[in-house]
Amino acid sequence: MVTTPAKSTADELRPGVKVPSKETILTPRFYTTDFEAMAQMDIGPNAEELQAILEEFRTDYNRHHFVRDAEFEQSWDHIDGETRKLFIEFLERSCTAEFSGFLLYKELSRQLKDRNPVLAEGFALMSRDEARHAGFLNKAMSDFNLSLDLGFLTKSRSYTYFEPKFIFYATYLSEKIGYWRYITIFQHLKAHPEDRIYPIFKFFENWCQDENRHGDFFDAVLRAQPQFLNDWKARLWSRFFLLSVFATMFLNDQQRSGFYRSIGLDARDYDWQVIRKTNETAGRVFPVILPVDHPVFVQLMEDCAARYLKLVAIGEQDGPGWLKKLRQLPHMATMAWQLLRMYLMRPIPMTQAQAGVR
Ligand SMILES: [Fe+2]
Ligand SMILES: [Fe+2]
Repeated sequence: MVTTPAKSTADELRPGVKVPSKETILTPRFYTTDFEAMAQMDIGPNAEELQAILEEFRTDYNRHHFVRDAEFEQSWDHIDGETRKLFIEFLERSCTAEFSGFLLYKELSRQLKDRNPVLAEGFALMSRDEARHAGFLNKAMSDFNLSLDLGFLTKSRSYTYFEPKFIFYATYLSEKIGYWRYITIFQHLKAHPEDRIYPIFKFFENWCQDENRHGDFFDAVLRAQPQFLNDWKARLWSRFFLLSVFATMFLNDQQRSGFYRSIGLDARDYDWQVIRKTNETAGRVFPVILPVDHPVFVQLMEDCAARYLKLVAIGEQDGPGWLKKLRQLPHMATMAWQLLRMYLMRPIPMTQAQAGVR
């Protein structure tokens, strides 16, 4: 039975359809790029590896994986209060992120179809996976009497333009961090089944393998373009993208530590584990990685998150907007300074495996 949640009518388009949350700087992004430049990309230098990955995509290991079993068929009203709110938000953010991947890959496959068939097929098959992931999450939201209006999301979101090189850095990292996020939750819940409050988590193991393969696809594309990886600009951009994804996740998650607590995880430990693993993985492609184990780096990141929480708290208080902005300003300035200091810390060079094709 579909019922309308008691509260939150102001949040809805119509009963059961959730208006996407307000966009902030930390919301999952929607991207667009220079399709012409991407069509021209010569991926020949790494054709063999790319073909092998395409073959894996075609095999479609998870074709029958995303099927809801009997465990879903029960009332989820016992997940209530703050936990319910946080859990729905988790589903919504995950669904939005998966769906933005779907839109980007779908559009890229369409644009490149006749001009760069290898890339086009890769994007088409990845968009197949992301559509499945987003659909599965949206179905989960329906267990909480909500669904995301994905059509509305497509039309109403603003799109961020990235040149192709940056699309590859960003998607590579978001796939790999996605892999580590899903697998870390899965492994924790495997060891602590009592914390598995909802069955979606048991799907994460095969699910994250999709993300891992997607990441490998981008890994191979980046290696086919050594000029993306082996000059001083690449080193600066690698640091920039690594820091962006790590800080975005860390700030987001510290704000939502209650969600992680509800599944028995400490948001801080969880994030550092994901950051370390993703950083290490990125070292296979990027010319440099960040000194994420350095105590100064850790301290700066945590101070930055503490500032961010203050900023959010001020935003939620009553009072005139201009006054809130004014009071947020010093926190913003400090955060910018902390991020800059992290960015400028001496990176760890990855000299061994760089320079193109393996
Ligand atoms: Fe996905
Ligand atoms: Fe993916």
